[in-house]
Amino acid sequence: MNELFYGDNLDILRDHIDDKCVDMIYIDPPFNSKKDYNIIYDGASAQAEVFKDTWSLSGWQMEKKMIFFDDAQRYQKIHNIISVFEKLLINTSPSLFAYLVHMSIRIVELHRVLKPTGTLFLHCDPTASHYLKIILDEVFGRNNFLNEIVWCYTSGGVSSRYFGRKHDVILFYAKSNKYKFNTQYREYSKKTKQRGLTKVKGKYFASGLREEGAVLQDWWTIQPVLSPTAKERLHYPTQKPEMLLEQIIRAGSNENDVVLDAFCGCGTTVAVAQQLKRKWIGIDITFLSIDLIRQRLLDSFYRDIQGLNEKKAKSQFDKDVKIFGIPRDIEGARQLATKTKGDRIRKEFEKWAIFSIGGVFTEKKGADQGFDGYFYLQDLNKKKNLYNIKCLIQVKSGKVGVKDIRDFSHVMDREQSPTGVFITLEPPTGPMMKEVARMKPFTTSLGKVCDRIYLVTIQDIIDGVLPQLPIQRITKRAQRVLPKVEQNNIFNP
Ligand SMILES: C[S@@+](CC[C@H](N)C(=O)[O-])C[C@H]1O[C@@H](n2cnc3c(N)ncnc32)[C@H](O)[C@@H]1O
Repeated sequence: MNELFYGDNLDILRDHIDDKCVDMIYIDPPFNSKKDYNIIYDGASAQAEVFKDTWSLSGWQMEKKMIFFDDAQRYQKIHNIISVFEKLLINTSPSLFAYLVHMSIRIVELHRVLKPTGTLFLHCDPTASHYLKIILDEVFGRNNFLNEIVWCYTSGGVSSRYFGRKHDVILFYAKSNKYKFNTQYREYSKKTKQRGLTKVKGKYFASGLREEGAVLQDWWTIQPVLSPTAKERLHYPTQKPEMLLEQIIRAGSNENDVVLDAFCGCGTTVAVAQQLKRKWIGIDITFLSIDLIRQRLLDSFYRDIQGLNEKKAKSQFDKDVKIFGIPRDIEGARQLATKTKGDRIRKEFEKWAIFSIGGVFTEKKGADQGFDGYFYLQDLNKKKNLYNIKCLIQVKSGKVGVKDIRDFSHVMDREQSPTGVFITLEPPTGPMMKEVARMKPFTTSLGKVCDRIYLVTIQDIIDGVLPQLPIQRITKRAQRVLPKVEQNNIFNP
């Protein structure tokens, strides 16, 4: 069975993944790029924070205790390197140091879960690849370094102050010298083919040229998923091309092998692994990712399957894929609401509740503004043009009363939100329901009648019985996957 985990990969790896059970790992962790990535929603200018790529020393004391004292033996291999990085970077580049500690401890866990025949592909960029390579040398052993794969692309902007930065780095290591590897091929370039090749029964023959194509080297030319018209694009900010993952997964694993991605984003690895008949384990720390992956897999592999309606497709999916960490009952929701460990899972309860009803989470900087998220409602302006009205969502995980409804209504007035959604973990009181019922509904110029405030309970979300909300789900849907991945995004130099 395939497994999708919602949570911090360090906790998941330590608590749920056994030693030596994985055949191949691909990870594409955030790059210490000091950017916060936002997902752009389809058809609206709304943006929701996906994940933070900024690193601080706030967790360092806790990690130090774990690495050097509580679990000193388990993390022995990284003691020296972390001490060296500490001397070198803690004062001059504290965020880089925090990032490297974060990666080191996870690399030890990834090494532990790999089978002796297993391999790891770590995707990074040239700003951190040299540091990460030292960590990998320490944990995997210098002799087990196999390749520094350079993934070249041509899209995106360039600078006039230096050469265009147009490649990522994928560090490829084996756990031992008994590792699995399947040679990969690429099509010969047109020029090579023209050099005296003959085509017999659809196949090319010439001296020195292989029927399968040219052996793939350690530099790859695959276009990224940037074009707005790219079929596989899901508007996830760091989505990687399926072709890239296809090459990696084919090289490092065989059918029925287990592939792990511990930073799985919008699920490119797991979708390609599924297509190539591998078993897979995916982990991500944001609910949005888990939700996107679930939808991507449903759309790509379960939708429109003959004889399966949507309900049956979902139930087949639930049999094939086990999802951990997403609340399935009220107790689970309560646990998520009270989970406070670390900055990165802060507000995950609010995010989960908001995404579950199709809204957009808003990370507020500074003082609380009295709302947690929003959605867009279409209306006509004075010139009779369509425009989006931003409508607010509030999430409460504690005790609630009629005052909370009145306060939310004031915030809605301030933000000019004619309708809104109030989500509560605890059941609403009688006076709250009365207050909501006596509020005047709002009618758009298009004739859509909306309640002033919709009361939604977490129980409604869990049971999937929401009131008729004026929210349209706006994330992009994945295309149905064809039996074979199209290979038209390779360019041959
Ligand atoms: C660069 S993206 C991966 C993109 C992915 N390769 C794809 O094609 O969609 C990195 C992902 O790592 C996740 N992440 C960051 N820190 C994490 C952690 N400690 N545990 C699990 N996931 C984490 C982020 O939420 C983000 O989705």
